Amino acid sequence: MSPEILSLEERFQSRIDAEIKIEPKDWMPEKYRKTLIRQISQHAHSEIVGMLPEGNWITRAPSLRRKSVLLAKVQDEAGHGLYLYSAAETLGISRDELVEQLLTGKAKYSSIFNYPTTSWADMGAIGWLVDGAAIMNQVMLTRTSYGPYARAMVRICKEESFHQRQGYEIMMTLAKGTPEQKAMAQDSLNRWWWPSLMMFGPNDAASTHSAQSMKWKIKRKSNDELRQAFVDSAMPQVEYLGLTVPDPDLKWNEERGHYDFGAIDWDEFWSVVKGNGPCNRQRMRTKQKAHKEGAWVREAAMAHAEKRRQRAVEQDEKVA
Ligand SMILES: [Fe+2]
Ligand SMILES: [Fe+2]
Repeated sequence: MSPEILSLEERFQSRIDAEIKIEPKDWMPEKYRKTLIRQISQHAHSEIVGMLPEGNWITRAPSLRRKSVLLAKVQDEAGHGLYLYSAAETLGISRDELVEQLLTGKAKYSSIFNYPTTSWADMGAIGWLVDGAAIMNQVMLTRTSYGPYARAMVRICKEESFHQRQGYEIMMTLAKGTPEQKAMAQDSLNRWWWPSLMMFGPNDAASTHSAQSMKWKIKRKSNDELRQAFVDSAMPQVEYLGLTVPDPDLKWNEERGHYDFGAIDWDEFWSVVKGNGPCNRQRMRTKQKAHKEGAWVREAAMAHAEKRRQRAVEQDEKVA
């Protein structure tokens, strides 16, 4: 490595150590750029694919109020996807490339969205647990070292906390309702608990990208730290609902001041990551179909933008 490059890297690291945000036009190591593109785009794809399991229940929500709240929530996720695609674009990759990586299966999205939503209670469990796990991760990311990503996260987190509360409110209504409703809530918690814990990714010892990401302050907490914080915050909520988690090993550890919990089934995790979850193929087919059928909308939007641009030019010429 030439001394010049070394000093660029050193200067970059010292800015990070001094908590100065890295901005799009700043010099950055190629690996930092690549890591961020991968992480931000994966995050954007998760927001977009994450609309599907909940979108499944919009037409079947049990009341007009529930329907409009769920609709607003799913729409928020589309917005999150857009902020994040924009943040990724500042790193020099185009929206078209990003979308293509998703549609060809080259890019990943959060595996949790490859599980089916089989009952209305799942709208509660997803908002409460899945958005809850996302918040744990995203609050940390409001302080990530890349400026555009950190700023997108501040806004996203505000909306996510509303998502989590709406989910918990659904769970509470069901858990305090008829025995059938309570059973629905319990069944849903049983199905979403473990996949939610998997959302934090592999154990620290098995996590390939973690050490470098921590040094670059892209991440500020490890997967296991975040997972523990999630379990600790969810358990009092589980108890308040009068429900139980599907983990016989889960118990409060007085000495550690944390909940202990059982081993995660990593075979299941990797199988879903590799494309063999219950809904992977269905999700991809849905996105590919929507992309194809939406071609005319994109073309019309581009034509409209071009017309406006033309008109603005003509207006300027007139003024001049
Ligand atoms: Fe979101
Ligand atoms: Fe959300």
